[in-house]
Amino acid sequence: MSRIVFLNGSFLPIEEAKVPFMDRGFMFGDGVYEGIGVLNGRLIDNEAHLERLERSLAEVRIPNPYTRAEWTSLEEELVRRNGMAEGFVYFQVTRGVAERDFFFPDNAKPTVAMFTQAKSIASAPAAETGIAVVTVPDMRWERRDIKSINLLAQVLAKQAAKEAGAQEAWMVQDGYVTEGGSSSAFIVTKKGSIVVRPLSNAILPGITRKSLLRLSQEAGIALEERRFTVEEAYDAAEAFLTSASNFVLPVVSIDGRPVGDGKPGPITKRLRELYLDMARLPAIAAE
Ligand code: PDD
Repeated sequence: MSRIVFLNGSFLPIEEAKVPFMDRGFMFGDGVYEGIGVLNGRLIDNEAHLERLERSLAEVRIPNPYTRAEWTSLEEELVRRNGMAEGFVYFQVTRGVAERDFFFPDNAKPTVAMFTQAKSIASAPAAETGIAVVTVPDMRWERRDIKSINLLAQVLAKQAAKEAGAQEAWMVQDGYVTEGGSSSAFIVTKKGSIVVRPLSNAILPGITRKSLLRLSQEAGIALEERRFTVEEAYDAAEAFLTSASNFVLPVVSIDGRPVGDGKPGPITKRLRELYLDMARLPAIAAE
């Protein structure tokens, strides 16, 4: 079966999906995106992702081409057409096609592109072993709360991590961890509280982060919503990251130093289980 993508109103084989040369996403990175996890063929936390999309679009003043119900049915249709049980749905909206000029074009129509990536999330080997992260300077702009398609700083950060033998980069500003290249960053103190940076323009408001905070509260796990330094992370009992395409992943080393005993910690494992239970629930309810 050929891979099917969605482009500007049509479902097409990926080979036939072409974006015009002068698309502002290509020329300026003038667009925003979303990424949603799929488990058992179901979109996880989709409403919250669509809410963040609405906010990103409003902040960069691109008109939203679809209602939430329309977005949802396009996502579901794409998952169905690709027969994808587990993975990731990605979509982006750019300001559209116009002769290259910085000012907003008068009559451009937003370009909408959507694709799926099959991926094992629930039984990913990295969830058992944990991953290594390295710290890098956070070189991004000041509106990291917008999920912009401008990802050059993250591309460079994550490539540096890969070349250092790690799987994720934790970006650092003024000695404090902001977030991962494509994930939210957490540590667990020796007293057993979760520490996560509060929301601001300095980080993306992670949807998985939001659900995880709710689940940890329900489980009675202490939470400190504050900034943490790289030194505090080195000294933490546990560390982990969250994202739509990984759910909860243990971090077992930072800059080559083992976190705790260098194995996924008990609080991290428990939170991953809680998140998986939540992600599996709607599928059970629908049966
Ligand atoms: N990345 N921080 C950054 C910079 C991110 O790019 C992401 C997501 C997150 C986690 O957000 P969420 O829980 O809503 O996925 C935090 C996606 C997965 C990506 O770019 O592939």
